Amino acid sequence: MSIAEAPPAEPESQARPQSAPPQERMITLKIRRFNPEHDTDPHWESYPVPFDPSDRLLDALNYVKWNLDGSLTFRRSCAHGICGSDAMRINGVNRLACKVLVKGLGDTILIEPIKGLPVEKDLIVNMEPFFEAYRAVQPYLISHGHEPTKERLQSATERARFDDTTKCILCAACTTSCPVFWNDGSYFGPAAIVNAHRFIFDSRDEGAEERMEVLNDREGVWRCRTTFNCTDACPRGIEVTKAIAEVKRALLFRRF
Ligand code: SF4
Ligand code: FES
Repeated sequence: MSIAEAPPAEPESQARPQSAPPQERMITLKIRRFNPEHDTDPHWESYPVPFDPSDRLLDALNYVKWNLDGSLTFRRSCAHGICGSDAMRINGVNRLACKVLVKGLGDTILIEPIKGLPVEKDLIVNMEPFFEAYRAVQPYLISHGHEPTKERLQSATERARFDDTTKCILCAACTTSCPVFWNDGSYFGPAAIVNAHRFIFDSRDEGAEERMEVLNDREGVWRCRTTFNCTDACPRGIEVTKAIAEVKRALLFRRF
């Protein structure tokens, strides 16, 4: 049986240079902190964080929480852009922390809670006003009697009519990027209108008139000033402003 031999050692002059261990790259997370038990006002705190080019901002926040300051408080769950729980202002724009790569955000990254909702602690806001508006548009299928004995059929064209707005994950990035919502928290906001759209244009639904009534209110669709912030902020790529415009048109012409 032959035994594999190690290759002969290279003469010293031909030895390949050992590559230097990769240098750890660092960024600074500058986070707006607020603890209602100790603080009267929010303040900024900075944390140096090592990072890898494939790290997302959520990884960096987890690093701070697990290694530097366990009191840092923020919501997250799925880490894959599905649950919608980690919307925050990152360098001044609303994004999901789990969908943004750290590289490309600069050496110092500013992180704040989303705007227009009461801050409970650090990056956590009270989402109740947001969900109150969501509930007001009755985001579920409404039918008035005549229950079908089989499934409710729908053509592919009818389904396509509201496909975009089915993708909403209720992250609130759109509503809390809207200047009208910042100035008047009683405006329903884009997310509620998106979710109304999802059912208003569903051929199987019979509650469009009821939803229209709600959205025709002073705080409803007419408050929208078409700033497009909502469309830019949506992590699901929903054409939020277009959906709002379609609801406005449906209200004007009663066609849906
Ligand atoms: S429309 Fe987009 S930004 Fe607004 S709540 Fe839904 S997923 Fe989030
Ligand atoms: S943690 Fe679920 S969407 Fe980011």
